[in-house]
Amino acid sequence: MKLLVTGGAGYVGGVVAAQLLDAGHEVVVLDDLSTGHADAVPEGARLVRGTLREAAFGVLDGAGFDAVLHFAARSLVGESVEKPGLYWDKNLGESLALLDAMRRAGVNRIVFSSTAATYGEPESTPILETDPTRPTNPYGASKLAIDTALAEYARLHGLGGVSLRYFNVAGALLEGGRVQGERHTVETHLIPNVLKVALGEREKVMVFGEDYPTPDGTCVRDYIHVVDLGVAHQLALEACEPGVHQIFNLGNGNGFSVREVIEVCREVTGHAIPAEPHPRRSGDPAVLVASSDKIRSALGWKPERDLRAMVADAWAFAQRAR
Ligand code: UFG
Repeated sequence: MKLLVTGGAGYVGGVVAAQLLDAGHEVVVLDDLSTGHADAVPEGARLVRGTLREAAFGVLDGAGFDAVLHFAARSLVGESVEKPGLYWDKNLGESLALLDAMRRAGVNRIVFSSTAATYGEPESTPILETDPTRPTNPYGASKLAIDTALAEYARLHGLGGVSLRYFNVAGALLEGGRVQGERHTVETHLIPNVLKVALGEREKVMVFGEDYPTPDGTCVRDYIHVVDLGVAHQLALEACEPGVHQIFNLGNGNGFSVREVIEVCREVTGHAIPAEPHPRRSGDPAVLVASSDKIRSALGWKPERDLRAMVADAWAFAQRAR
C-alpha cells in the first residue's frame, strides 16, 4: 500500500513507519518537525516537512495513497493545561484539515493515535472501550474530539477509521538494522527519565507521589512495547472498513507501579538508580490499566514483549543514542 504517515519524525510514528516499510509498504512522512527529528524518519521513507494544514492536500491529492496513519500531535499533558488553545488548534484543528484533505483526495482509510487520556480518571479497572470518556486535560479532550470527528466522517462521508487508544508506550525498535527509540526534547515519561539516571545524566529519579491508593503507594500504569504497538497498527490498517469507526484500547492489560518500573530498570541496567519522593504530579490518575480483550478478539492482536523487554530495548537505545 501507499501510506501517508503524519508525525513520522516522532518516536511512535517513526517506529511504525519503519515497520510498515519493512512489511513492504511505500511510506511518505508528513511532519512539521516541531517536536520530531528529521533523522528519526526511517530510511526508505520520503519526508515532506510541513503542517497538516499547509501540506496535507498537496501531498495527498492525485498521489494514489491508500491510507493515512495519523500520529502527528502535541502530547504533553502539562503543556496542554498551560496552553489549551495550542492543543485544540494543533490536535483537533490540524486533524480536521487532514480529514478534509483526505476527502478531497478520495483517501478513505485512517488509523489514528488516540490515548488512554480520553477516559480521564477511570471508575473501574481494567478500562473498557465502552467506559465513560471524561478527559481531565486539554490533551485528552482534543484527542477525544478527533475520535468523535472520525465517527462522524465515517457515518456521513463513508470514512473507514480505527482509533487506537494507547496506554503507556515504551521500548525501542532494534530489528532489521533499525535503531529507533524515544528522544523527546522535553522528557516527561518515566522509563526514559529513569534510564537517564543510569546513564549518569541525572542524579536521581523523582517519584511523583507515594500516597496513592495502590499496593506500594505509587501510580500504576499499563506499559506496551512500541513494536507490539506497531503490529497493532498493521492489523488496524487491514481492519479499516468504509463507513465504520472502530475504537480499540492498546495496552498489555497488566499494571506496574512506578516503584516496580524503577526496580526493573535497576535489574536491567545494573545501576543503583537512586529514587527520591516528590509531591504528586497534577492530573495523574492512580491506576490506568487497559482491557485489551477487544483488539485481541476482533483483530487477533497479542502483545509479545513484557516490561523487562521494553526496559532492555529502551536501555540499548539510550546507550546508542548518547
Ligand atoms: N513519573 C515519575 N517520575 C518521572 C516521570 C513519571 O514518578 O520522572 C510517574 C508519573 O507521575 C506517572 C507514571 O510515572 O505516575 C507514568 O508517567 P508517564 O509520564 O511515563 O506516563 P503517563 O501515565 O503520565 O502518560 C501516559 C501517556 C500520555 C497520556 C497519559 C494518559 O504518555 O500521553 O498516559 O493519562 F496522556
